[in-house]
Order: sequence, then structure tokens, then C-alpha cells
Amino acid sequence: STVEKYVAELVIPPVMPPDSRTGGEDRYTIGVRQFRQQILPPGRPATTVWGYGATGAPETFHFPARTIEARHGRTVRVRWVNQLVDPNGGYLPHLLPVDPTLHWANPGGGVSGRDSHPDFDSTPGPYRGPVPIVTHLHGGENEEESDGYAEAWYLPDARDIPQGYARQGSFYDVYAEKSRALHGVPWGPADAVFHYANRGRAGTLWFHDHVLGITRLNVYAGLAGFYLLRGGPVDLEEGVLPGPAPRLGDPPGTRHHEIPVVVQDRSFRTDGSLFYTPSRALFDQFEGPYIPGSDIAPIWNPEYFGTTMVTNGRTWPVLTVEPRRYRFRFLNGCNARTLILKIVRDPLAHRPAPAALDLWQLGSDGGFLPAPVQRDELLLAPAERADVVVDFTSLPVGTELYLINEGPDVPYPGGVAGKDFTPADARTTGQVMKFTVGPLTAPDTSTAPARLTLPPLEPLGAAGLTRRLSLNELSSDRLPGVGPRVVLLGTFDARDRPKPLRWDDPITENPTLGATEIWEIHNLTNDAHPIHVHELQFQVVDRQPLPAGSRRPPEAGERGFKDTVIAPPHAITRIKLRFGRAGRFMWHCHMLEHEDNEMMRPFLVGPA
Ligand code: C2O
Ligand code: CU
Repeated sequence: STVEKYVAELVIPPVMPPDSRTGGEDRYTIGVRQFRQQILPPGRPATTVWGYGATGAPETFHFPARTIEARHGRTVRVRWVNQLVDPNGGYLPHLLPVDPTLHWANPGGGVSGRDSHPDFDSTPGPYRGPVPIVTHLHGGENEEESDGYAEAWYLPDARDIPQGYARQGSFYDVYAEKSRALHGVPWGPADAVFHYANRGRAGTLWFHDHVLGITRLNVYAGLAGFYLLRGGPVDLEEGVLPGPAPRLGDPPGTRHHEIPVVVQDRSFRTDGSLFYTPSRALFDQFEGPYIPGSDIAPIWNPEYFGTTMVTNGRTWPVLTVEPRRYRFRFLNGCNARTLILKIVRDPLAHRPAPAALDLWQLGSDGGFLPAPVQRDELLLAPAERADVVVDFTSLPVGTELYLINEGPDVPYPGGVAGKDFTPADARTTGQVMKFTVGPLTAPDTSTAPARLTLPPLEPLGAAGLTRRLSLNELSSDRLPGVGPRVVLLGTFDARDRPKPLRWDDPITENPTLGATEIWEIHNLTNDAHPIHVHELQFQVVDRQPLPAGSRRPPEAGERGFKDTVIAPPHAITRIKLRFGRAGRFMWHCHMLEHEDNEMMRPFLVGPA
């Protein structure tokens, strides 16, 4: 990539303005719109993206979104509105090529799904119709109707939607009715009203789109943002950690020392537009998007890797820091790329590069760890978060440091600790952002991480049932060596053979309400998969190489609560989960290309 680095300042996402904060409830109306944003350095073309914003305030639309600030015990109610319409009220087509042969939302009906395309010679081109959305609060512990179920999507209220198109997915009406009965707030026609109870642990949550079969494209186009849950019994007093974070009504020039940082990889055409390479394997091998007689989805790319790193919506930004402590909430917001983040002096040093600054990790997906851990790098698979303190205190003004990425430019092949792979290209995807140390403006009164006591962590109790689950990759029947064709979650059959299952197969995971279970995830593939379970925060129990390795305890950064866990190849990953809410939820691989091609399953808590 020839894009110049470290020109633009890091964007610190401001706070999403609510419509009101009355009683025990904060209310928002948040739209999804298409707009242009300067993601590439100044002087280069702007990029058309999608993003969230407060519908009453056009200036709040941004990729990534403004941050939703939530308080423990106060409900957040969001009306999520699909505003993917043009100025004349017609619908906007997708920015990226939608593969109609996957099992996807498919509002136009008709042919869809791999099984209806035994021969892709008859495959239509990308879907050009209106785009469905549905928003999921990742890490939230909420009722099913507010969870953003992949089939609870809805179209924009556009006037040119053709006759016969479904305006909503099959679960939209069910959940709209349930929500109205519970909360008395009607939905529609182009929105859903979700209630977030905020009874979980204080932590770094995020929201993103979750439509069946196009999540990878909707998120890539820009639909993601932070949701910070604060307060309650397991948070620290304000002022203990470096701050402040952005607040509503901050005067311009306010210094922030708590900063959310989402790292994503993207590719751009020279005109600035987002590029999402269709079908990597097919392009490499056949120089075309499509092979006659193939049984591989013609447009779907098995794992998307961008050429350019984008942090908080800008390529390779720079942050001027004071010589003091900072709190960063890192989120891996990439579709498929696993990151290994490190702060170094020389971004071009031979990899692995020596770390210049320690990262003190305080928290993971589901809030604080039992104790701060000093780390020289952070391994983050897609959707994982790390709550971190970095201490720049002793550095002279003018010091330059770099946040680099030593994860690979391919799906993560390693175990949690192993490093038997080639790191990302040190000139491009191996770099993330730069820190320049400037003068101190005010004394740092935060507590040094080494002296911090973190809130108590109450482990889940004894588990009843243990479930054996499998991760499977199926290659092409017709074109051996080109693949994967499809990636699947599954179980094991009575003779102990893996039994891969698709999204539409009958429910196999049906925990009792209130039950605590162990899920043994047997990864039978060659890649690590980040496995995410909705509606709860779980604990990592251990990992064990297959067929008969010894059990390895969770890594230092995994000893709190998690909602996404790396399942390394050819190993069992055990997690413990307590199912506290009845209803239908999902679990899936968070490599979004896998999720979109069947590596997702519904589960049901309690009776149907
Ligand atoms: Cu972050 Cu089911 O997703
Ligand atoms: Cu996967």
C-alpha cells in the first residue's frame, strides 16, 4: 500500500447523544445511514461508508459510531432505524457485492442458499435490492427480542421496494410483538426498539450489525461502535483509572485519557471507495469470480484480509499523548484478522520486535480480570476486547512509539501461546498507529497499575451438563484443493463422529433456564476460530490439544469473564456458561465470513 502513514490525528469517538435521560431509562434513536468520511489521509478522496448516528443530529453519523455510555442498573432503550435511503426516498443498494447463493436474509425471496444452487452456472449476480439491518449489542446480557437475532432484520422505509419483497425477517414480528407486550413501545416500519437492562458487569461492549448472511458486508461498510457499561458492584471508583473518557458536552480541546480504540483492516480503490475482494481462493487460482460447475459460493470470500489498517475510522492515525498513564479499550473489529498488538520503538524492526512499553491488562470482554496483568503483547481475535493501561510517564517529550500488529496476514493458525507463523507485513498491516509524546498539561492522579486492586470476581458455580461440540470445515466436492466450501458448527453423533450442522438444522443446544454447563468445543480444522456465545458472559476453563494432550489453564488475559474465546486448531476449548435468560439466541464463529456461511447456530434456553 502506498497510503502515507501517521498524518491524521486519531479520532476519539464522542458520546452518542440520547433523546432523553428520565426515570430509570436512557432513550436513543439511532439511524444507519450512508455518508462520506475522510478515512484516507487528507488530500486523498473521501470514502463512502455506512455508520450509526443520532437521527436528529446528522453531524453525529460516523464510522465507527459514537460511543453509547451506559450506567449499571439504568435501562438503555434504542430505536434502531434503517435509513439506507437516497435523498429522493429510494432505497440504497449495498456498497459491496452480496452473494445471493449463501443462506442469507434474502428479502426478495426466490432462489437463495447453497443447496438450491447445485450448479452455479445459473447463479445470478450480486443482489441489488434494499439492504436489511439488525443491530446486536455484543457482550450484552439481554432478552431475546432485544438481542438482534439474525432473522429479525428489517428493510428501510423506501418507496421503491418492489412488490413481493419481505420488509422484515421471519423473527421480526415475533419479537416486535413480544417487545410491545413487555414494554408497550411499538416498532416499525423500518426500525426495532431494543431494551438493554445493563445488569451485567461493567465492561467494554460493542454493537454491530448482525443480518443473516451479510454481517461481514454490513460491518465492513462501517456498522460498529462502542458501548461502555460503567458502575455497579464490579467497577472502580471514578478517578482510580486514567481519565476522563469523552462525555456529552465536552468543550472543544478537552483532553481524554481513557480512549476506545477499534482496529480494523480495510482495502481501498484509488478513488477512495471501499474494496472487498470477492472470493480470494477463486481469484488466486482461476483469475475470475466464478468457476463453471463449482459448488463454492461464487462471491463469498472465505476469510477477508484488508491491505490497510484503519483505527477509529482513519488509516494509520497518530495520537499525541502526555507523559502520563492512559486507559485504552482495544477492540479487534476486523472481519477475520487476529491481531497481536505491541508497542515498539521501531515499526520496521524484524519481527518479532522487542516491546518498548508494557501493557497492563485490567479487563477483557466481560469486565475486569481478578488482578492486573503485565503483558508485552495482546492477542486479540475478531470481537475480543482488552481494557489496558499504558504508562508513558517516564518518556521524554518528542518520543515516538508505534502500536504494531504481529498477527499473521492469514487466518490465525496458532494456539493461544504458539507463534509458528509469519507475522503481518511490517510495512503495512503490521503497523496500526503512532504515539508522539507531548508536554504534560496536568498531574496524573490515577493509581499505578501495579498497585491496583480490581473488584472481586465471583466465579460461576459447579456445572451440570457437559456438551461436546465440533468445529468443521468442508472442502469442495467438485474442486478438491479449493476451499473451504463451508464452515460449520456441530455436535457429535452416537458413534462419536463429528456431526456438522447448518443454521437451519433443528436446535441441538437447549439448556434449562438457570443451568450451568460446560461446552467442550472440539476444533477439528486447521485454523483458530473465535467462538462467541450470545446472552451471557462465560468463563474459560481450559484447553487441551487433540487427541490426548494435557490440559492448559486459560491465559493471563482470559481469567475474567469472556463472550468470545479463541478455539485453537486441533484442540478442545472448554468454557463454562450459565444460562440466565429464556429464549432463542445464537452462537457462532466471529470471523464474519465464517459466520455468514453457516458457522452459526441458534440455541434455545428453556422450553420453545
Ligand atoms: Cu459480535 Cu453474534 O456477534
Ligand atoms: Cu471460523
